[in-house]
Amino acid sequence: MRAIKTDEGENRRKTGAEVKVEVKNITCAYNGHVALKDVSMDVMRGEFVAVMGPNGSGKTTLLRAIAGMIKPVKGEVRVYGSISYMPQKDYVNPNIPMKVWDVVAMSILAKGKKFRWSVKLSEEEKRAVEEALRAVAMFEFRNAPFTDLSGGQQQRVLLARALATKPDILLLDEPFNGVDLPTQEKIINLLSELSSRGITVITVVHNVSPLIHHVSKIALLNKTLIAYGKPEEVLTAENTLRAYGVSIPVTVCEEGYLHPLFGDIHG
Ligand SMILES: Nc1ncnc2c1ncn2[C@@H]1O[C@H](COP(=O)(O)OP(=O)(O)OP(=O)(O)O)[C@@H](O)[C@H]1O
Ligand SMILES: [Mg+2]
Repeated sequence: MRAIKTDEGENRRKTGAEVKVEVKNITCAYNGHVALKDVSMDVMRGEFVAVMGPNGSGKTTLLRAIAGMIKPVKGEVRVYGSISYMPQKDYVNPNIPMKVWDVVAMSILAKGKKFRWSVKLSEEEKRAVEEALRAVAMFEFRNAPFTDLSGGQQQRVLLARALATKPDILLLDEPFNGVDLPTQEKIINLLSELSSRGITVITVVHNVSPLIHHVSKIALLNKTLIAYGKPEEVLTAENTLRAYGVSIPVTVCEEGYLHPLFGDIHG
């Protein structure tokens, strides 16, 4: 989680459109090895975007580039607003016996460019921590040591940490890993509600099916952006074949949404 350059003035000058994230023709590389090539996409205010693709296809790299954690070797990313980033795996030092509450409170103390060393939260900030913990059904664990939690419970606390700062743009990297189905559903409903309130949500997922009724767009990656648009435009046999090397069967649910039947494909 970090503060990112904002340029609200320029954003306002754009006629009507409220672009929150502009990815302009970026190429990202690690030690000269290209991980992401020529990717361009705009994400608007209140959009709920799922990023999909096989392992190693550049999903995490794309989120890191948007969060400003890596600099593209070509192209640029512009972000208009505050960002919270929930990484795929986070490192919490097991030797520091941090309570669940403190893990979430830390995000508020670390908000902005300077870390606030005063550990006292205002009443409003405390409410934000409580709300975030309740949103992921972890409030009752607030006094438990973080390291004593199960993997799925830790994941939920890390999501609460990302929510607590009330960002304009929420970047989540596989937030449902290890999270049980009822909690996953609760979180999906929450993300959907946040996006309807104008928060831009960009989340990496392997299985988009549980989110399909809520997402506005899907970005399908395989080193390059294979498709970006509405789920029904993106999840074609041709696109999934290009991304995963196999075409993925889809089914249409009663409400008319397209559901890919690939559970948890890893390319
Ligand atoms: N820190 C790093 N140093 C070197 N190479 C890296 C680094 N991070 C990622 N890569 C490489 O960049 C490519 C894209 O990795 P990335 O983590 O973005 O994929 P991903 O789509 O998120 O995969 P997964 O589904 O496994 O999380 C991979 O080939 C990976 O090996
Ligand atoms: Mg990843």
